[in-house]
Amino acid sequence: MIKKSVLAVTTALSLTATNAVFATPEVEVLHWWTSGGEAKSVGVLKDEFASRGGEWTDMPVAGGGGDAAMTALRARVLSGNAPTAVQLKGPAIQEWYEEGVLSDISAVAEKENWDDLLPESIASHMKCEGTWCAAPVNVHRVDWIWANAAVLAEHDIEMPTTWAEFNLAAEKLQAAGVTPLAHGGQAWQDATVFETVVLGLGGPEFFQQALVDLDEAALTSDTMVQVFDQMRIMRGFVDDNFPGRDWNLATAMVINGEAGFQIMGDWAKGEFLAAGKTPGTDFLCASTPGDGFLYNVDSFAMFDVRGSDKEEGQMLLAELIMGQNFQKVFNLNKGSIPARTDVALDDFDSCALTSSNEMAASAEGGSLLPSYAHGMALRGAQSGAITDVVTAHFNSDMSSQDAVQMLATAVKNSM
Ligand code: BGC
Repeated sequence: MIKKSVLAVTTALSLTATNAVFATPEVEVLHWWTSGGEAKSVGVLKDEFASRGGEWTDMPVAGGGGDAAMTALRARVLSGNAPTAVQLKGPAIQEWYEEGVLSDISAVAEKENWDDLLPESIASHMKCEGTWCAAPVNVHRVDWIWANAAVLAEHDIEMPTTWAEFNLAAEKLQAAGVTPLAHGGQAWQDATVFETVVLGLGGPEFFQQALVDLDEAALTSDTMVQVFDQMRIMRGFVDDNFPGRDWNLATAMVINGEAGFQIMGDWAKGEFLAAGKTPGTDFLCASTPGDGFLYNVDSFAMFDVRGSDKEEGQMLLAELIMGQNFQKVFNLNKGSIPARTDVALDDFDSCALTSSNEMAASAEGGSLLPSYAHGMALRGAQSGAITDVVTAHFNSDMSSQDAVQMLATAVKNSM
């Protein structure tokens, strides 16, 4: 009798031990990296995960900027079947944390000393009430202009350093039959262009007041009227086929020389590179006119799921995401720079070096700002309210005065 129960206990113990040791780390990863450059980048993580014995189930949800991915996420969580790991960033991390559905990944973060490896500005987005609730992969800069070098040379155009210069260059291209601005008419792309104009025409302090603090006086100011005036001018620089176009197809127009410029974050560089193009020779990068740096940090949050295979998968994924080699190789493909501060940038190109230097300088000068268009500055309700107005203005003949009034009302109603 005694012997039997000892045997039972021993068997149970060894089974538990076996399970713990041999559980295959599993992840189901929801992300929106589906363009050429993006798929190549996320492939680096898949391969590293597999080489550590993990099983990766991919859940890509196409749609630049991630709006469709976030809709899919909500549906999965509401049906009680959250994916294990999700591309999630900025205040949305906190919003999901408040719903009580995120896993705490502090054990990995503390073991790997993330506090020492990340700038405070990035680390703070990854923490929820002092615990680590997300792992960062990169820093994307949003305020960039990309250009086809040959097209600019052919028309004797320099990279613009003011918005007035940009308008002149665009008019010149238009007169020559080249589409000046490659753009896709999707709300998040309109918002991306809009925030670079807010930063450029208003300056960093104005950006902070208008798009981070949501100050009513800034939202209805003359400066904001000028911003909408510039948006109206830029509406005249896009081609007739722009509605609904994906951002990477807009980038392809610049790659092919069909268009001169694109205003887009440096994930666009991932497309140029995937097409075999070289910065400085085939394409040019410059920050959009004006001071400041709009950052957009991609990160992954782990959702609360049961099962040692999934939990191990989450911990392994978090560890790999912050791995030194992964942060280098992934970002070489993605167009961004590493979130970790100790990754050598020797193999990175001139655009990445500009990004890194200007990020450091703007952090010191107080002009390092979170991108509103890419979900780093505001909660979903507020950023959505602003984007609705920006896109309504861009796609109609609404006056700038009406737009600023509508903006202030929309923001107030979203609070
Ligand atoms: C993400 C990038 C992504 C881009 C286009 C941004 O919001 O941060 O990683 O490449 O959207 O989908």
